[in-house]
Amino acid sequence: MSEPWWQSAVIYQIYPKSFCDTDGDGVGDLAGIRRHLDYLRWLGVDAIWISPFFRSPMKDHGYDVSDHCDVDPVFGSLKDFDRLLADAHARGLRVLIDWVPNHTSDEHPWFVESRASRASARRGWYVWRDGTPDGPPNNWRAAFSDAPAWTWDERTGQWYLHLFLPEQPDLDWQNPEVVAAMHQTLRFWLDRGVDGFRMDVVHCIGKDPSLPDLPEPMAKLPACVVNDDLRTHGLLRGIRSVLEEYPGDRVMVGEVYLLQTRAVARYYGRGDELHLAFNFPPLYAPWQAEAWRDRIAEVADAMDPRGAWPTWVLSNHDNPRQRSRYGNEARARAAALLLLTLRGTPFVYAGEELGLEDAVVPSARRRDPGGRDGCRAPLPWEPGPLHGWCSAEPWLPWPPDAQKRNTAVLRDDPGSILHLYRRLLAARRHSPALSLGTLDLLSTPEGVVSYRRECGDDVRVVAVNFASDPRPFGLSGSWIVELASDAVGEGSRYRDGLATEQALLLRPA
Ligand code: GLC
Repeated sequence: MSEPWWQSAVIYQIYPKSFCDTDGDGVGDLAGIRRHLDYLRWLGVDAIWISPFFRSPMKDHGYDVSDHCDVDPVFGSLKDFDRLLADAHARGLRVLIDWVPNHTSDEHPWFVESRASRASARRGWYVWRDGTPDGPPNNWRAAFSDAPAWTWDERTGQWYLHLFLPEQPDLDWQNPEVVAAMHQTLRFWLDRGVDGFRMDVVHCIGKDPSLPDLPEPMAKLPACVVNDDLRTHGLLRGIRSVLEEYPGDRVMVGEVYLLQTRAVARYYGRGDELHLAFNFPPLYAPWQAEAWRDRIAEVADAMDPRGAWPTWVLSNHDNPRQRSRYGNEARARAAALLLLTLRGTPFVYAGEELGLEDAVVPSARRRDPGGRDGCRAPLPWEPGPLHGWCSAEPWLPWPPDAQKRNTAVLRDDPGSILHLYRRLLAARRHSPALSLGTLDLLSTPEGVVSYRRECGDDVRVVAVNFASDPRPFGLSGSWIVELASDAVGEGSRYRDGLATEQALLLRPA
């Protein structure tokens, strides 16, 4: 049996508000994504994941869904989505959408009805509880603030749970009607032909119905980063069985926001829960060899015995971009080589291929309650005042250097980071060792991480120098530099050492 497509794929995340605006309202749209599909083909990614574009009051920029089965007018219409999907498929690009199962918007008709009265038929679709004499039902904290994860509803005299904003009430997945209704929302998009889902904070859908207090010191953390209830696993198996009603290896990629890789690995079940799960500890690791060696080893230890296929991600719409975190382009380039040669499915966040830094967002232009505007800056496509957008002023400021750091300018420069990403994607696609092979960490001098990838007789070695000076690193055998993060020495023999902050992809001579 051949491997499912998503195992050898590279998935490109699009934050739709920031990708490309075609109607002049300052916010990106589905037509803007469609306009740039040929660019994505040229780049060489296999699939796109589009962050939420459903109807939403946008309190959390689309992660507060008020209709799972329609497109918010700011992004276009269902017809625009169907066109986008058809054009993507015609180019061999698969499309994942972002499904938000843990909560809805408080403006979703389900919640409006639930909140109307204690006797409402949908009261039990959300998590309503009486309080304690001291206030909320338990000590859980919401994300984005230090506030309780509960809001008091004056009219019906109870509290409702929200692990995120008060405008994002949590659904009660213990209620079979909720399960059935949410399964229907999956079928709605599966019927339209989507190839899979990124599932937002999916580890939170199962909760202990007694909602016990969290012990100290966990109680200081937002409940969404510690909720790890066994009930979720049964719910995931149910969701998986919906995907399996459809042909073509539809994929579920879970955002499991638990910061221990071993805990994340459990959400793959016995091959019957998530196909892929985000594992964030590497994203939060500093740019240091020891930290990265540990993270890579930890992934192998936690995932391999279960037959779980890892994922790798360095940036997304929730975290500062890697170019900003690591501090310079040399490191961002070395990180690209690392990301795209590790064992597992890599995710590239739109704009990282341009080496974008976070935008500096003055307080008057801040939009996100979670302080994540910088990494959500609009993508510059061209030099000039509009950068390929149809609007004079996009919803967030442009990232730094947009005159030079845009797809048009970097495409004309074969030495650019954009071309590095493209060459890495091509190298990965053409090498079974890189796309599907085993990974073995090699012993290295301080400051260097190296691993060997192997599949049949296809072999590659990757070496990354995290240090800010050159490092010797001898390898037995004779090797050719296939790709260098700084493009130096490609095609020539490897000379047992790495330049400052350089990463190399080597093939046998
Ligand atoms: C996930 C999303 C984030 C959102 C949150 C609530 O972590 O990635 O953007 O704010 O869930 O839906």
